[in-house]
This record gives sequence, structure tokens and C-alpha cells, in this order.
Amino acid sequence: MIIAPSLLAADFTRLGKEAARAESAGADWLHLDIMDGQFVPNISFGPAVVAAVRPHAKKLFFDVHLMCGKPEILLEPFVKAGADQIIIHVELGEQVLPLIWKIKQLGKKVGLAVNPPTAITAAQPYLDKIDLLLVMTVNPGFGGQTFIHECLPKIQQADAWRRERRLNYRLEVDGGINNQTVAECARAGADTFVAGTSLFGARSLKTAITKMRKIAHDNDPALADLKVPSVSDPALLL
Ligand code: DX5
Ligand code: ZN
Repeated sequence: MIIAPSLLAADFTRLGKEAARAESAGADWLHLDIMDGQFVPNISFGPAVVAAVRPHAKKLFFDVHLMCGKPEILLEPFVKAGADQIIIHVELGEQVLPLIWKIKQLGKKVGLAVNPPTAITAAQPYLDKIDLLLVMTVNPGFGGQTFIHECLPKIQQADAWRRERRLNYRLEVDGGINNQTVAECARAGADTFVAGTSLFGARSLKTAITKMRKIAHDNDPALADLKVPSVSDPALLL
């Protein structure tokens, strides 16, 4: 179970402090959204900003999500800046395979993202070559959007493939994740949860992360069989 706050929703006037706050609040990963104004209609920040943030959260795993049309020119700069994992989009078509090998060559973990309008089958040829599959639950480009429920069957399918083929890629969701949608995604099989607005917008980041983690854990289908009915809840004994 990984909770990954997205820096896109942090206070941009103090990104180093915000990353440090995420680390001390118990985040597992920090999610960094890179937008180039071409692949998505927005621009966020680049390798220089990631490099500046890195020393403020030395223990956090940096999950770099490239929403960029030309990722090949950005891989080395982001690795130098401190990325632990680089996610590229399946919509890049024939560029995907060489990008996966390049990221592996650089010694980093590889993620593959699938946008809401893209069929999950587009990711199928790459499943044995990746460390993480990201099922986007909003159209990428902006934080604070509403979760698209139609994406849930894609998560179920990706989880079923993982079990059938005995693969062990992580299954990540990103966009509109809050205390309601995190439960739906966990039940569908997701194990890695990116959340911007609902975490950085909370009064206490630590409380918000702890609560989200508990909800995700309580809805983990892998644990469902292990649940022992509690005597204090007689309804469960019927
Ligand atoms: C969307 C980004 C997300 C974004 C999520 O383009 O990929 O990572 O930060 O933000 P929220 O959690 O606010 O939907
Ligand atoms: Zn993202």
C-alpha cells in the first residue's frame, strides 16, 4: 500500500518545505507531475525544480510522471535530478518500448500510464517489462478534477492480468483520489494511490495520509478473506 501525495497541489512558493512536510507526515512516495504544454494543455515544472526539492526529502521515493511529448530528451535530466521511477504514457505508441529500455538502462524503475479514453489493452504488450501500471482516473493536465468512475473496470482488468500472468507490477491510480474514491480503487485492485488536492488541501497532511492509508487497507480485497468477525459487531456473525 503506497500513498503518494502529488506535489502539484502543494504550495509552489515553498516546494522544498512541502516535500519535507510530506516526508514527515508519513508519505511513502512523492508524485511529481511533469507537464510540457504539448502532451497536455498545461505546464508544471522541470528537472531543475525536482533537483532543488530532492535534498529536502532524502528518504522519499520520487515518482516522476512525464506528461510530455518528447520524454527521450528528459530521461537523463530527471534521473540526475533524483527520480527513482519514471512514468511514461502508452499513448506515445511506438516510442514506448525504446523509452522503457532507456529508463531501465539508466537504472530506474519504469511506469506506464493509460489515459481515460485509452483502452487498457494498449498496455498489455508491456506488462512484463514494467514496474508499475498507472490507470489515470482523470484526463491529465490539471489537479483538482473529478474522478472518472468509468475507469474502475480498467483497474479490475489490470489486477486480473497481474494475477493470471503472475506479474508483480504495482497498480497505481491518479486523479480525483479522496477518501471515497480511494476505497473504490482499492476494492478494484489498486495498491498505489496518488492524491494531490485531497492531501495537500487537508488541514493536517499527516492525519489525511493516515486516514487514506487506513481506508485503502480496509478495502484491500486480498485481506477480505482474512477478516475475522468481531464479537462487538453482531451483524457480522449472522
Ligand atoms: C493530473 C496529475 C495528477 C494530479 C492529481 O494531471 O497527473 O497527479 O496531481 O491531482 P488531484 O489529486 O488533485 O486530482
Ligand atoms: Zn500524476
